[in-house]
Amino acid sequence: MKLLWLIDIHFDFLSRPQRAAFLARLAVQAPQAVLLGGDLSIAPRLAEDLKSIGDALLVPLYFVLGNHDFYYGSIEKICRQVRRVCHQRKELFWLEDTGCVPLTNEVALVGHGCWGDGRAGDCWWSSLELIDFFVIKEFKALDKGRRLQLMNRLGDEAADHLGRLCREAACYYRRVIVLTHVAPFFETCLHEGRSDPEGLPFFCCQSAGETLREVAMEFPAVAFTVLSGNTHSPAYHQILPNLESRVSGARYYDSGFALLEY
Ligand SMILES: [Fe+2]
Ligand SMILES: [Fe+2]
Repeated sequence: MKLLWLIDIHFDFLSRPQRAAFLARLAVQAPQAVLLGGDLSIAPRLAEDLKSIGDALLVPLYFVLGNHDFYYGSIEKICRQVRRVCHQRKELFWLEDTGCVPLTNEVALVGHGCWGDGRAGDCWWSSLELIDFFVIKEFKALDKGRRLQLMNRLGDEAADHLGRLCREAACYYRRVIVLTHVAPFFETCLHEGRSDPEGLPFFCCQSAGETLREVAMEFPAVAFTVLSGNTHSPAYHQILPNLESRVSGARYYDSGFALLEY
């Protein structure tokens, strides 16, 4: 099966002709399905940008959301809006709602956007302040302690979701593709090509990573491939013999894609 993997394409950075040219480049690839790993856009234009990809490719679009997709909006409202759009469009599938998706007889897809959950590195020591904390409603006006509580909670929700669906998929499929926005392993959370202890609490969803390691050890005959982005810095690491983590590089103003064959 030919899959097109898109992540961190940040359509809001592109002009209308640039978006149209990019969509035309995607259509030429003639994929059988698209995996969209978040940071497509920003909240005010997310629904329209999702529909534009669906219209251009006319194949199933399986997606998770990234932190930028909530910018200038709220997590709660965007989740409701995305659910509505998916009900209207038969080609759009938000992986937080769909459960485990069979791609072939042997390969299943699960996904969750995940969040930097504050558990990797030292959140209290880090002086990093993400833009997220000023432009996403749920984070605004939180002090450092309450912000960390929210990051922990969002990470735990992602871990629960991925653990449940990976275990379900692993009972029936030889390979499980796990699509996330935030990478779950510190080994692949790089910033400009190197590990950044200040950034790790915000760029790694450690709770999801711990859960994925547990699941992979429970099912040694199943191969788990985790596809992520967010840091815009490419990375690959074999976490366990049957668990690999791949992070896609990305550049603002120059959207890219990767083809995967299963
Ligand atoms: Fe991004
Ligand atoms: Fe991101």
